[in-house]
Parts: sequence; C-alpha cells; structure tokens
Amino acid sequence: MLIKHLIFAASFCVVHAYFTLPGKCPADVQLQQEFRLADFFGKWYQAYHYSSDEQQQNNCSVLELQTKPSGIYLNQSRIDRGLFHRYSIAKLEIPSNLEDAAKLNVKFFFENAPRRLRIRRYPFSVLATNYQYYATVYTCQYSPLTDKHFIYIWILSRNPILNDVSKELATKPLSQLGIDVTKIKKDDLTRCTPKYYEDSQTEPMTFRYPVPV
Ligand SMILES: *[C@@H]1O[C@H](CO)[C@@H](O)[C@H](O)[C@H]1NC(C)=O
Ligand SMILES: *[C@@H]1O[C@H](CO)[C@@H](O)[C@H](O)[C@H]1NC(C)=O
Repeated sequence: MLIKHLIFAASFCVVHAYFTLPGKCPADVQLQQEFRLADFFGKWYQAYHYSSDEQQQNNCSVLELQTKPSGIYLNQSRIDRGLFHRYSIAKLEIPSNLEDAAKLNVKFFFENAPRRLRIRRYPFSVLATNYQYYATVYTCQYSPLTDKHFIYIWILSRNPILNDVSKELATKPLSQLGIDVTKIKKDDLTRCTPKYYEDSQTEPMTFRYPVPV
C-alpha cells in the first residue's frame, strides 16, 4: 500500500513538473494557411525551441519527413546528453480536409510496450513556414488531472543556421500563444558527433507524457 502511494506521489510530481501552464491548450490557434505538405518534405534542423517546462534533454535535433509505401513518416533524430545518437519515428496523420492542412498529428507505435502505451498520438501543427528557410511547429498536451498544459515549439531551419529575418518571421506566431520570445532557446548544432550510435528507434523526447493524465 505504501509503495502504491509512493508511486502515485512520484508520478504526480512528474506530472506537475511537466504540465506547468494553467488551463487547457490554447483554442483557435491560427495555423499556416494553405499549407502544402509536398513542399515541407526533407530535412529540417532544429535551430531554436521553446519548452514550457524549460527542460532540454538533447542537442543537434534534426527532423526529416520521409515517404514510404505505407505512408509518410517523421524521423526525429538528436544527441542525448552529448553521447547518444538516437531517433524516433512517427507516422504522420494528414487531415482530410484542405482547410486543416497544417493540423498534422504524429503517431508513435511501440510494439513491445504495454497495450495502453502502444500507440501514442500528439498534435504536430504547423504555425508558419515559407518551406525554403523556416518552419514553426507546435504541440500541446493537456492534463485534466492538474488542469494544466504543456507546450513545445520547434523553430526549424533548412540550414544549420537560421538567419535573423527568418527567425523574426518564425517567432511571430508565438505571440498568439502568449509565449515570451525571450524564452526561446537556441539549439547548439556545433558539437554533433556522438560517442555512440543506437540504430533502433527510441522514445521521443519532445512529447514526454505517454498517456493522457
Ligand atoms: C533517422 O535519421 C537518422 C539521422 O539522419 C538516421 O541515422 C536513421 O537511420 C534514420 N532512421 C530511419 C529509420 O530512417
Ligand atoms: C549538449 O552537448 C554538450 C556537448 O556535446 C553536452 O555536454 C551536453 O550534455 C548536451 N546537452 C544535452 C541536454 O544533451
């Protein structure tokens, strides 16, 4: 019984540390209009990011959209703690109606996980992009238990360095989410040679909460 309480208390603390923003996820967020997925393909470097819990677990994050016979997949690779090259693969869920084209979801599938943790789906909405230089992507998770939410923003760049004009454009849509631009962190893409390569996919780091809580 005590153990059970401890486990509950521990997971409750984790939830508290992760979900820090009050209330539900922002409603009616303005996304990229007439989003064209075909022009979004290929490789994107994570130049900056915003994480509402202010945690940073890795460097050198690269996102790449790939087509396979079974669908379109997002490969997120990164270097954890300066040591491990790891990646996570998600299937991209494409909205069926055109007005919602930028409202993508990513679906992770973990074959060996317990049943309720096998499929994990998270929003992956494109706030803004000009396809050639920058893209701003957004996710949000709400916790009914604590009535708080978590936000993560990727400021992506086609080149390892994002120019100032593009950065300005990429961060513009953040004001509607009430995000202070000074809270955006620059990613270090200079020391990206890891000690170890792991060649099987691992858990995503940017969506850390596996189940709705
Ligand atoms: C995902 O991307 C990383 C880095 O480019 C690469 O090493 C890895 O093989 C890719 N995984 C798949 C399944 O394509
Ligand atoms: C980022 O990279 C540096 C140097 O490679 C490393 O020391 C540091 O631990 C890394 N930070 C994270 C959060 O992975």
